[in-house]
Amino acid sequence: MTVRPGIAPLEAPTTIENADVTVVGGAGHVGIPLVLALAESGLRVNVNDINQESLEALKSGRLPFIEHGAESVLAKALAGKRLVFTDASEQISTGGPAIITIGTPIDEFLNPVRRVVQDCIDAMLPRLADGQLVVLRSTVFPGTTDWLASYLDAKGRKLKVAFCPERVVQGYGLKELRAMPQIVSGCTPEAERDAAKLFERITPEVVVVSPIEAEFAKLFSNAYRYIEFAATNEFYLVAKSAGVDYQRVLMAMKQNYPRLKSMPRPGFAAGPCLVKDTMQLSAFARNQFGLGHAALLINEGLVLHVVEDLKHRYDLADMTVGLLGMAFKAESDDTRASLSYKFKKVLIGQARAVLTTDPFVTTDPELLPLDEVIARSDILILCAPHAVYARADFKGKPVFDVWGDLEGANVVR
Ligand SMILES: NC(=O)c1ccc[n+]([C@@H]2O[C@H](COP(=O)([O-])OP(=O)(O)OC[C@H]3O[C@@H](n4cnc5c(N)ncnc54)[C@H](O)[C@@H]3O)[C@@H](O)[C@H]2O)c1
Repeated sequence: MTVRPGIAPLEAPTTIENADVTVVGGAGHVGIPLVLALAESGLRVNVNDINQESLEALKSGRLPFIEHGAESVLAKALAGKRLVFTDASEQISTGGPAIITIGTPIDEFLNPVRRVVQDCIDAMLPRLADGQLVVLRSTVFPGTTDWLASYLDAKGRKLKVAFCPERVVQGYGLKELRAMPQIVSGCTPEAERDAAKLFERITPEVVVVSPIEAEFAKLFSNAYRYIEFAATNEFYLVAKSAGVDYQRVLMAMKQNYPRLKSMPRPGFAAGPCLVKDTMQLSAFARNQFGLGHAALLINEGLVLHVVEDLKHRYDLADMTVGLLGMAFKAESDDTRASLSYKFKKVLIGQARAVLTTDPFVTTDPELLPLDEVIARSDILILCAPHAVYARADFKGKPVFDVWGDLEGANVVR
């Protein structure tokens, strides 16, 4: 059952002594919606993060990145004194559960950096009290949760360990947390029970499985999505090689046909999670994950295909190319692992110049206003299909659009 009494103001401000729950990595993309949902459920939350800039933004009521619908909830949580911000591991609450939402990257060999979880726990350990619940929420390599329980056990620590993966779509985390089932797992019945109780406060339904099942559930979900994008991207390439407009085929396939309702359109699929998690799975499968690797070849290769196609059609060396949308997906300000930057890298040296623009991204000093990019470019590529581009006047210049968003004689598919 979901308890949502609203964010009633507290008499005394939240401190690390009286906080009900700690979110480590609480100023990140996964951390912020979780922090706000927990505060909204009536809890006092310790927001722990090493990123001072993001903490300062939150303290002043600003979100460090786009999270739809979160600003008013943050304002209420701050006014209600429900949040305490800390930036070091020795400043975490010893009271309630500690939820870990830090980044879990892959390295140059496309293998998970397992050390990050251990380093994070090692730093927290002196503050954690026996009996406390530790929830891993970051996406982890299969077996990490049970490993963590054994690791803590070997150190003589009696902590409850759970894994409750985050599955929300970036930018809409708060909204989805309130509506989507939460997968919960624990290394002991007590850990499982406590974790379920915690998430029942914020989500309508919990689904309880074992830690390894939950770890696979998360990785399979992301890898499956990545493979879906690859399937439609490959169909696009096949149709195109036959001189057929794939958008028309897609329309015919999907029209009132329920089994293909969720089939994505073609486009540049990457971002901070899909590739990384597909590769984590591959590393677990000792690289015997054919579909995952095929998806990587197709999705990453789509950028190279577009560049090759442009080279056949135009004298690129004599042209300025404008890249529209540098975020990794539409209506987002997140540039992490965005294929738009792969475009930029590949085109520099092949085109006379490469110009970039994005209405949401605030972290790239090389971005130019849209009008200027259109005016100075000879050809444009729709990289991230922000809605604003569907209404833009490209002054008759050719625009390469694999997404099928744009109409007009100047649009190249
Ligand atoms: N972004 C998504 O939509 C999404 C969705 C589901 C799952 N995930 C997973 O969630 C995890 C976090 O992803 P994210 O996108 O929120 O990353 P992020 O980089 O936006 O956030 C991670 C935060 O953790 C902080 N941090 C790192 N090490 C720390 C430490 N030792 N102590 C305190 N804070 C620390 C960082 O400063 C950052 O603010 C990853 O495992 C990711 O795969 C992400």
